[in-house]
Amino acid sequence: MTDKNKKLWGGRFEKSTDEMINEFQASIGFDKRLYREDIEGSIAHATMLAAQKIISDDDRDKIIDGLKKIRAEIDEGKFKFSVDLEDIHMNVEKALTDRIGEAGGRLHTARSRNDQVALDMHLHVRRQTREVQRLIVGLQRALVDCASKHRDVIMPGYTHLQRAQPILFAHHMLAYFSMLSRDFERFDGVYQRADIMPLGAGALAGTTFPIDRQMTAQLLGFNRIYNNSLDAVSDRDYVMEFLSAASILMIHLSRLSEEIILWCSREFSFIELDDAHCTGSSMMPQKKNPDVPELVRGKSGRVIGHLMAMLTTVKSLPLAYNKDLQEDKEGLFDAIDTIKFSLAVFAQLIDGMKIRAENMRRAVEEDFSNATDLADYLVKRGVPFRETHAIAGRIVHDCIARGIYLKDLTVDEYKKYSPLFDDDVLEAIKPETCVGNRNSLGGTSNRQVENQIDSARSIIDDELSTIGDE
Ligand code: ARG
Repeated sequence: MTDKNKKLWGGRFEKSTDEMINEFQASIGFDKRLYREDIEGSIAHATMLAAQKIISDDDRDKIIDGLKKIRAEIDEGKFKFSVDLEDIHMNVEKALTDRIGEAGGRLHTARSRNDQVALDMHLHVRRQTREVQRLIVGLQRALVDCASKHRDVIMPGYTHLQRAQPILFAHHMLAYFSMLSRDFERFDGVYQRADIMPLGAGALAGTTFPIDRQMTAQLLGFNRIYNNSLDAVSDRDYVMEFLSAASILMIHLSRLSEEIILWCSREFSFIELDDAHCTGSSMMPQKKNPDVPELVRGKSGRVIGHLMAMLTTVKSLPLAYNKDLQEDKEGLFDAIDTIKFSLAVFAQLIDGMKIRAENMRRAVEEDFSNATDLADYLVKRGVPFRETHAIAGRIVHDCIARGIYLKDLTVDEYKKYSPLFDDDVLEAIKPETCVGNRNSLGGTSNRQVENQIDSARSIIDDELSTIGDE
C-alpha cells in the first residue's frame, strides 16, 4: 500500500481504498467548515484526559499547543486539506501527529469520530443559532423603526387580496415583527436542544477509560450531557429542528417578500425600493426590478428542501451511527448561509424602503374598505348587525352603479336607506375614524399600535439579553 493511501484506520486492510470511493466518501470538502469546533472540542478532550491521568500533562500541553498552531494555519488559509484523510477530524489529527509525534496519537483515546462529529455539530449549531437570532433581532429592529417612522400612514388591509378594511401600515409591519418573535423563540428551542454534550459516547457504547464527561461539558460550556451513548451519536434532532425553524423563518420572509414585490409594482405603487437594492433589465430600459425580495422568496424553497432531505435521511435509520448521517452537513450549512444572508439583506431593504403614503391613502379612499364601519354605525344605533350588513351592502351596490364612493353620498341620501343615519355618518366612515375606532386589544387603532411599538422595543431588549453579547 502506498503511503499516500495509508489510512489512520488502515490496520485491518490489505487493499487501499478505490480512488473514486475515496472521493465519494470524503466529507472534507464541506466539513472543513467545522475546524474551529473540532479543535475546540479536542482541546477540551485533551484537558479532561490529562485531568483524569489518562494522558500526561506533558502530552496534553503538546497536543493543545499543536492544535492551536493548526487552527492558526487554517485561519490564515495556509493549511493543506487532504481528501485522502476523509474529513476534518482526521485531517487535524494527522497534522497534529506529523507535528508532535506520539502525543498526537494519544488524543483520540476514549473518543470516536462518531461522538467527535456529533460534538462538532452541536457546537456549530449552538453558535450559529445565536448568530441567526441576532440577525432576527436586527430585522425586527428595522421593522419597528419603519413602523414607528410611518406610524400614521393608513393603507387598505386585505383579505383574499381584496381591499377589506383600513389599517395602519405600521400595524402591517408589526405583524411581521410578531412572526419573527416566534422565530426567535423557535431558535431558542433549537439552542436548548443543541446545548447537550455527546462526547464520551465513544463509537456507540461509551468507553473503558475513566473519563469525566461533566468536566468536558463544563469546559465547552454545555448545559447538559447526553445520558445515553447510543442516542448521543445518532441524534440529529437538533439539525432537523434548526432546519425546521429555518424553514418557517423563510416562509415568513417569503410572505413579506411577496407583499413587497406586489407593493412596488406599478399596480400598487405603495412603496419604492432603494435604487441600491434593485437591478435593471438588460433589454427594457425602464425596469427597476425587486431582485432582493424575489431571491429571498426563491431561496425559501431551497431551505425547505434541506429540511425535507434531512428528515428523509434520518427516517428509518437504525441505531447508532450510520454513514448516512454525514449527509447532515451540506444542507445545514447552506441553510445557515441562506438565512443569515437573507436576514441581513432584508433588514437593509426595509431600512431603505420609501413609503408612498398618498397612494396607500388613495387605495383606501377610492374603494369600499370602510363598508364595515358603515354597518357598525347602525349597529351602535340599535340595528342588528345582520340587518345593517344588508343595508350597507345595498348602499355599496348603488354607489358602484353610480361610480361613486361612500364618502360621496350626502347625509340625506344616507337617510333614505335608514332614518337612523345622522350628520356624523360621514365622519364615521373617514379612514382615520375607521382605524382609530378599532381599539380592541391587538387591533389597528393608533393607540393599540403605539402599545405594540412599545412592547416590540421591550421584546427586543429581552431577546438581546437572552442571547448575550458574545
Ligand atoms: N465524516 C463523518 C461524518 O460526518 C465523521 C464520522 C465518521 N465515522 C465513521 N464511523 N466513519 O459523519
